[in-house]
Amino acid sequence: MPVEGFPLSVRAPIASVEINVDVLQRIEQALAAALELGIAEDGPPQLGQAVRHAVMTPGSRARPRLVLAVAAACGDDAPEVADAAAASLELLHCASLVHDDMPVFDDADTRRGQPTVHRLFPEHGEQLALLTGDGLIVLAFENLAWNTRRYPERLGPLTLIISRAVGVGHGIVAGQAWECETGIDLTQYHREKTAALFSAATQSGAAAAGRNPAPWRTLGENLGLAYQVADDLRDVAGDAADIGKPTGQDATHERPSAVRELGVDGALARLHELLNGAIESIPECPGRDELAAMAQAEMDRLLPEGLLRGA
Ligand code: IPE
Ligand code: IPE
Ligand code: MG
Ligand code: MG
Repeated sequence: MPVEGFPLSVRAPIASVEINVDVLQRIEQALAAALELGIAEDGPPQLGQAVRHAVMTPGSRARPRLVLAVAAACGDDAPEVADAAAASLELLHCASLVHDDMPVFDDADTRRGQPTVHRLFPEHGEQLALLTGDGLIVLAFENLAWNTRRYPERLGPLTLIISRAVGVGHGIVAGQAWECETGIDLTQYHREKTAALFSAATQSGAAAAGRNPAPWRTLGENLGLAYQVADDLRDVAGDAADIGKPTGQDATHERPSAVRELGVDGALARLHELLNGAIESIPECPGRDELAAMAQAEMDRLLPEGLLRGA
């Protein structure tokens, strides 16, 4: 979405790996349908614009892709349920980004190569960003309930998996709240603010296909931990124009980060350890090799080029 009058010129992040077009189409369609479900035509226009901006700006779609990959490995017998779980997790991810970028958290001006929601509106930006995040959280669960109506027995397990990944106990909310404390454990912080949603992605892929989610938990958790280590590396070694968001944030806000704790080489070693752990944990299933390749490709996509060559 081009944004008039915004002073920064930044490019959207571009994926360097091939991603299955059908899967991407399923995700974009499911997200568009969720927005249709949630945004009222006669509702407050700026809120509708803000919600669309938060979701439809070009993002990695890493979490919904993971849901659909695991659903496929588990037979994907109810694609409408898998699509709903995929979209709902992305809505929650987008909500977390909108709130995370607000001045009270990381105070970021850009996201996905575009202005952040609170910077999009000359007036009431922060009010609209707060409401956008809240609204997306609620819409995630409305979308899940609506699209599982033909499979009501799958709604309970999915709701538990997904709500725990964002909640007060050990979800994103808990992860972000560690920033208000001293003496933070880096792995716990990363597990809650990032890996919880990845773990929900793999588990809900299985649950959406009517399978036991438990064997898929470690894959998501290790991938999510690796993802945040890669993000910490991008924060020091990435280029803001390439990654579509500001760099140097962890130092500016004195956030615990893998690079601050382990150094660049230590963080790279940790990333490889986590990625190998993720790949080894993939349960025996059709499509196991594709899942392993996808996990590897995801890390290659995230790592800044200089580090990728050195790795
Ligand atoms: C950003 O995630 C937040 C982290 C947990 C590192 P992504 O890198 O997947 O962000 P988008 O969806 O592409 O904007
Ligand atoms: C990512 O935290 C996790 C969230 C809950 C949004 P970061 O603050 O490291 O993510 P970026 O760098 O802003 O995407
Ligand atoms: Mg943050
Ligand atoms: Mg941030």
